[in-house]
Amino acid sequence: MSRKILVAVAWPYVNGEPHLGHIAGMNVPADIFARYHRIAGNDVVMVSGSDMHGTPTMLKASDEGVSPEEISGRYHAIWSKALQDMHFSYDLYTHTHTDQHRDVVHDLFNTIKKKGYLVEETQSMPFSETEQRFLSDRFVEGTCPHCSYESARGDQCDNCGRTLDPIDLIDIRSGRDGSTPVFKDTTHQMFTLGAFQEQLEEWVSGKDEWRQNVRNQTLGMLREGLHNRAMTRDIDWGVPVPLEGYGNKRFYVWFEAVMGYFSATKAWAVNSGDPDAWKRFWVEPDGETYYFQGKDNVPFHTVIWPAILLAYGGLNLPTDVVANEYLNLGGFDFSKSRGHAVWLPDFLTRYDPDPLRYYLASIMPETSDSEFSWEGFVAANNNELVANIGNFVHRILTITTRNFDNAVPTLGDLDDADKAALEACDIALKEVGEAIDGRNFRAGLRAAMRLGQHGNRYVDAKEPWKVVKSDKDAAATTLWVGLNIVSTLRTVFYPYIPSSTEKIHGMLFGEGDVLSDGWGRREIIPGTPLEKPTPLFKKLDEYVVEEENARLTGDA
Ligand code: MF3
Ligand code: ZN
Repeated sequence: MSRKILVAVAWPYVNGEPHLGHIAGMNVPADIFARYHRIAGNDVVMVSGSDMHGTPTMLKASDEGVSPEEISGRYHAIWSKALQDMHFSYDLYTHTHTDQHRDVVHDLFNTIKKKGYLVEETQSMPFSETEQRFLSDRFVEGTCPHCSYESARGDQCDNCGRTLDPIDLIDIRSGRDGSTPVFKDTTHQMFTLGAFQEQLEEWVSGKDEWRQNVRNQTLGMLREGLHNRAMTRDIDWGVPVPLEGYGNKRFYVWFEAVMGYFSATKAWAVNSGDPDAWKRFWVEPDGETYYFQGKDNVPFHTVIWPAILLAYGGLNLPTDVVANEYLNLGGFDFSKSRGHAVWLPDFLTRYDPDPLRYYLASIMPETSDSEFSWEGFVAANNNELVANIGNFVHRILTITTRNFDNAVPTLGDLDDADKAALEACDIALKEVGEAIDGRNFRAGLRAAMRLGQHGNRYVDAKEPWKVVKSDKDAAATTLWVGLNIVSTLRTVFYPYIPSSTEKIHGMLFGEGDVLSDGWGRREIIPGTPLEKPTPLFKKLDEYVVEEENARLTGDA
């Protein structure tokens, strides 16, 4: 029976260009997961968009002396294009500055308010006397009361991940000019998170399969106890609050951005011609929802968003929150190595998306931080993609087309090695599928690579290029088995390197595409014409490493 799977990818702030750290953490795993489930025959919708609001965009805008609209519009366009160029298969990539999103936020807010889970309270908030405005979130910095990290922000500590209120910060200062704010009273809408403490505890206790880090962060927050949190801010950029007296306030970015998963699924449903289609994922009890993100987003997805869903009522809670650790570059995480990042739009002017998807999947920071290096990228491309997969596919197709009139040869009896090779195909399909479904993307990739290795060992032992001269029928059988492996590689690598697998498909079957063939071993029919093979991957020169490292340190 087909499963209903929503793939919900974190919404990036659009205050800068995407770098490799962003996509390694969320888009790459999400797309592997979505593509696998589509080809496995499930009902999949993958949504996200740009997080246009919040103080990150306001800060960037004020740095450049332009409006937040201009900044968010500019980077939304850049992000959208880069995500498309990476072949991430969004069913909808939108943004949070749309009327449709605003209406959905208002509906959620009004319903939750009517149920009594949003109450007005007067709060003491930092106020900058130099700028004559309230400061919140990233406008203020200070020392984290939990872990003593000195650059914690007004709503979250980047070091320990805990959510904060500005009043919690020790030695609070303005992130803009370093001045010390005073505290002034202001009224806000407070979300009564504590009302969901028990329900959330019970829900999380059943989530044994969540990653350790996600579970621990969440249990830690629950253990400390949930309390009221302000869901509005004294700022003028964001979703307006539909209440009298709130003209100068906007929703807290995290209150409304997480609602984007829901508003985007509704927008997708309208676009698809079936406006109720969103209910399959959000309302039907067997709808599954998976959230992909970096580790700093965890508390918002495992506590605040589920509490919003419980408060609204009748909507599915996350099945899993799949959070990655950080991808580092020269020892620093990408977001902190300012200026020293590998920017995706720039990367794509020189390299293809598939080698990057492959390399990032192979070093994905699933359980601990990992390190991007140009040496690693070139080695992965040359020693793994080119030497293992590309070479195998090319060898089989070249020997076949040369010796058998550009057509699939007729097999004879299968010996043990032939049977073991076919069995390796079935094992790979099973192992890769199970790993991806279990959100173990590196393990899935290793299982796919093992099939390539098996294939190479098999043809090395069989030597069909030699045997074809003395025993054409025996070579025919080997190549037929080899074509089965090529075909299966096409399938198991499809979630990871989709365009390369479409290329294999074209050479092997001509018409159709990988997706339509489903997750299984397609029959290889003798006599089927084959196209002349062209290489799948390009070998990269070793000087790439030097050149790119020089670019990173600004010596290029
Ligand atoms: N914009 C946030 C970040 O970049 C992520 C928001 S995810 C959302 O960290 F779902 F809340 F939008
Ligand atoms: Zn901290």
